[in-house]
Amino acid sequence: MEFGFYWRTTYNRSGPPNSEITQRCSSTPFGQSAAPACSLGCMVRSLSSAIAARVVTRGDTSAMSLLAQVMAMLGGPGLPERLPSEPFQLLCEWFDHAQRLKTVPNPNAMVLATSTLDGRPSARVVLCKELRADLGAVVFYTNFESRKAHELESNPHAAVVFHFDSSGHQARVEGVVERLSDEDANAYFASRAMLSKLGAWASRQSQPIGSRVELAQRVIDAMHALRISPMTVLAAAVGGEPIAIPRPPHWGGYRLVARRVELWTSAHGRLHDRAEWTRPANGNLWSAQRLQP
Ligand SMILES: Cc1cc2nc3c(=O)[nH]c(=O)nc-3n(C[C@H](O)[C@H](O)[C@H](O)COP(=O)(O)O)c2cc1C
Repeated sequence: MEFGFYWRTTYNRSGPPNSEITQRCSSTPFGQSAAPACSLGCMVRSLSSAIAARVVTRGDTSAMSLLAQVMAMLGGPGLPERLPSEPFQLLCEWFDHAQRLKTVPNPNAMVLATSTLDGRPSARVVLCKELRADLGAVVFYTNFESRKAHELESNPHAAVVFHFDSSGHQARVEGVVERLSDEDANAYFASRAMLSKLGAWASRQSQPIGSRVELAQRVIDAMHALRISPMTVLAAAVGGEPIAIPRPPHWGGYRLVARRVELWTSAHGRLHDRAEWTRPANGNLWSAQRLQP
C-alpha cells in the first residue's frame, strides 16, 4: 500500500529560486489526503482482521508475512529507510511542497519558542522567510524590541516547529540564533509591501497600546517622521509611484542555526515515522537516528 509519486521542486536552499530538482517521494501522508478517511480506515480495519484471522484460525505466524502486512498496514516508511546524512534537503522539499499545495494561507508559518535566561518559555507564530540548507539555518524577521527579541538577546537558544498538516509532516529545529547582517535585513525589508514597511516603523511590538486609533495615529506619525505625505502613501497603495522607505534600526532578521532537527511523518495507528539529526556546536557533521513515535 505504497503511495508513490513525483513532484518537481524549484526551491533553492540558499537564495532565490534558480535550481530545479526532481524528487521521488513515497511518503504516505500525501496518499492519505487523496484517499477518503473512511475508505482508508476500512482498508486498515480489514487488513488487521485478515492478519488476526490468519494467526488465530490458521495458526499462520510466518514472521515475514506478518511483518510485511503490518508494514503495509502502517502505510510504508514516510522517511527514507536509509536516513539522509543531513536533514535540510528533506526539510526544504517538505517546505517547498507545502508552499505548492496552497492549502493554507501561510504555509511558511512556524511556531518559534524562546525562553528567558531563568527558563520561562514563550512561543508565537512567525514566518520562515528562508531555509539555508548550506548553513543548516532557518531565517525569520521581527522587531528587535519585541518580547521574543529581548529573550533571544539574553538567551539565544531557540526552537521552531513547522506543521505541514496537509502533508502529514512536522519539522522541529532547535539551535542558537544569530542576527542577520544589515545588508541581508535591508534587502528583505526592501521587498516588503509599503504598509508593512510603515507598520515596522509605527509599531513598538509587544508594548501596550490604548486603542486601534492610537496605532493608526502612530502610522501617521511615522509618515511625518519619514517626510512622506499621506496622499503619496495612498496613491502608492493603489498602484502609484512606489515610495522608498528605509528599514527601521529596531527591525531585522535572525537565523536559527540548527543543532538538532527532527522530521516526523504521520502513519496509521499513531505509529508515525520520526528521526532526529544532531550536530555539535561548532561542527557540520550530522548524526542521524530513527526515533519511536
Ligand atoms: C501567521 C502569522 C505570522 C506571523 N509572522 C510574524 C513574523 O514573521 N514576525 C513577527 O515578528 N511576528 C509575526 N507574527 C506575530 C507574532 O505571532 C507575535 O504576535 C509577535 O511577533 C509578538 O510576539 P512577542 O511579543 O512574543 O515578541 C505572526 C503571527 C501570525 C499568526
